[in-house]
Amino acid sequence: MGQPEKYTSDHPDFVYSAINRILHWIRALVITGLIITGFYIAEPYLSSKGSSDILIYGEWSMWHFILGFILISSGLLRIYLFFFGNDSGRELSSLKDVLSIKSWITQLKSYFFIGELRKKGFYGPLQFIIYTAIMILVVLASITGLILYVHVYHQGIGGLLYEPMRVIEAWMGGLANVRYIHHITMWGFLIFIPIHIYMVVWSAVRFKHGALDVMFTGYDYHLKKKQEEKEENT
Ligand code: HEM
Repeated sequence: MGQPEKYTSDHPDFVYSAINRILHWIRALVITGLIITGFYIAEPYLSSKGSSDILIYGEWSMWHFILGFILISSGLLRIYLFFFGNDSGRELSSLKDVLSIKSWITQLKSYFFIGELRKKGFYGPLQFIIYTAIMILVVLASITGLILYVHVYHQGIGGLLYEPMRVIEAWMGGLANVRYIHHITMWGFLIFIPIHIYMVVWSAVRFKHGALDVMFTGYDYHLKKKQEEKEENT
């Protein structure tokens, strides 16, 4: 998909490529599924009423593993695209804001309704740090998930990854710790998701732009900017 002529780094109209938007929604759905199935695995509250033919726990964990491997593959692809994809240049240019104290102050002030949010790249500095932390959380959930997995399945990818995962397991202080860390990552997502949704809607209202639309269409719009342009032209 090409970029429209109106693109500027200050107010990018075209923001996310199709692949990054698709990966966003895949991970949103998959993480939701992992939280639901993970909650059950942690505390298997449904009972098969004594029948050994109904493998409820087995089914829930099967879905957990399927979703888990989708998360791992989409996470790896997203990390690759962050460095080498079509949006990479604009995403990485956010680092200029992260390293600039002035940008931090501008963003924080704009969150307190003082002035506008001006940034060089895609993300404000606080936003960039939070998204990086969430990506680290995905990596941590994936690695601890894989360590737990190699203890359940010893063939195929489980067998292949057994030795390296045992090394990481030892670094983490044993299997009990790994399970604990894996469980805690879920709470990281549970805290992040409502704040993330709130901030997207808040930002759309506060800065009058397409904060939510951008993840569907790829395009952002800036009502304030359009208004300013109109006033300049009259
Ligand atoms: C957003 C990501 C994820 C969340 C929120 C999540 C959540 C959970 C939770 C809450 C548990 C129960 C832990 C406990 O016993 O207290 C669990 C178990 C487990 N998860 Fe995940 N998980 C995620 C990703 C993954 C991934 C990527 C894999 C890798 C395939 C994975 C594999 C496992 C395994 C093997 C278990 C243990 C199953 C068992 O003991 O039978 N998880 N997960």
